[in-house]
Amino acid sequence: MNPRKVTDGVFFVGAPDWDRRLFDALIPLPEGTSYNAYLITGQEKTALIDTVDPTKWEVLKAYLEKVNNIDYVVIQHVEQDHSGSLPMVLEKYPNAVVIANSKAKELILTHLHVPEEKIQVIEDGDKLDLGGLTLQFIFAPWVHWPETMLTYLPERKLLFTCDFLGSHLATSSLFIEDERLVYLGAKRYYAEIMSPFRNLIKGHLEKIKKLDIDMIAPSHGPIYQNPDFIIEAYEEWISDQPKNIVLLPWISMHGSTQAMVEYLTSKLVEKGVEVQPYDISKADLGELTMATVDAATIILAAPTILTNMHPMAELVAYWVSILRPKAKAYGFIGSYGWGGKTLETVKSLFSGIKADFFEPVLVKGLPTQTDYEALDKLADAIVEKHRVLGLLP
Ligand SMILES: Cc1cc2nc3c(=O)[nH]c(=O)nc-3n(C[C@H](O)[C@H](O)[C@H](O)COP(=O)(O)O)c2cc1C
Ligand SMILES: [Fe+2]
Ligand SMILES: [Fe+2]
Repeated sequence: MNPRKVTDGVFFVGAPDWDRRLFDALIPLPEGTSYNAYLITGQEKTALIDTVDPTKWEVLKAYLEKVNNIDYVVIQHVEQDHSGSLPMVLEKYPNAVVIANSKAKELILTHLHVPEEKIQVIEDGDKLDLGGLTLQFIFAPWVHWPETMLTYLPERKLLFTCDFLGSHLATSSLFIEDERLVYLGAKRYYAEIMSPFRNLIKGHLEKIKKLDIDMIAPSHGPIYQNPDFIIEAYEEWISDQPKNIVLLPWISMHGSTQAMVEYLTSKLVEKGVEVQPYDISKADLGELTMATVDAATIILAAPTILTNMHPMAELVAYWVSILRPKAKAYGFIGSYGWGGKTLETVKSLFSGIKADFFEPVLVKGLPTQTDYEALDKLADAIVEKHRVLGLLP
């Protein structure tokens, strides 16, 4: 298999993963994903940027069949979906030098057991001359791990970004064909991996906006020939201003909590608030995670089971709390039979979050007229909060 040309001296040697359906044993992948690796051939030296997930080593190996020599392997990120085939690459090219920053070196040693003497440590801003082509390293910690870095190829106005700006999408084409699919795949990636670090991402975006860039080549999903498309999407996602959206993850065993959810949803919609309800028992956790990127308010809805909150709802509450979304207000509604500790659990789950917390609405059994009035009050409080935030007239 011949490496696929991206531009002069730059070739794609990565692997789509059409059939992968779960990322990090957590987030569904409706469109699969890809692990992109790039071969850069200078007049004197050849470099490989990233490798592929070890499950796809055979694909990278086939691309490298006629490549006699690799001088450098640049590891932008040590997570195994990009560096997992490094030991196999080094076995095939015993003289190749691994280029990594000091944090990456530490992680390569612990995660891949590559011999220390193979690794050459570089600093932020360092350049590597390949002969007519230069690789310039830009440290960008926390997109996704502390060691992540970007690589700029000034002669081709090309920026390699690894996870940053990438999308969960398997395609035959190297370049974008369907912007909407890429937008959704990139948001799915961002929501899980990047959103907790959005304050740091602002700085990274400012840094790359100063570069002269014609193309962005991530290590997941297709290459961007219009860099503004993904930079603008990221700017919207990292913005502190949420949207006029209530995210409403809910679960119900016998329909009582569901009746509360349906009532609250219709009241909010009536008052001009967009609602995104997710039945936790069926929802795609990736979609729910994507909704945390925009929502101004998050209301969890769950019944009591065995003295406490339904465990599936507790899992979602925990997941949302560690994502640290930009939501400005939270709340809880649910049905119970005779008693329990659900309210205490709600309080402890939300205690660390710096946002408003609406008065919870807990209902014994099926909601009555009085309970629906309590939900009316909750809807009013949400609307008022969205008004104060400038999201509603
Ligand atoms: C397996 C199971 C365990 C339950 N355990 C409790 C409990 O410990 N405390 C309580 O107040 N209600 C308990 N209930 C009652 C439910 O919380 C109550 O029926 C509630 O209305 C269910 O809401 P739903 O229709 O939204 O599922 C339990 C119900 C089930 C099915
Ligand atoms: Fe990663
Ligand atoms: Fe990745």
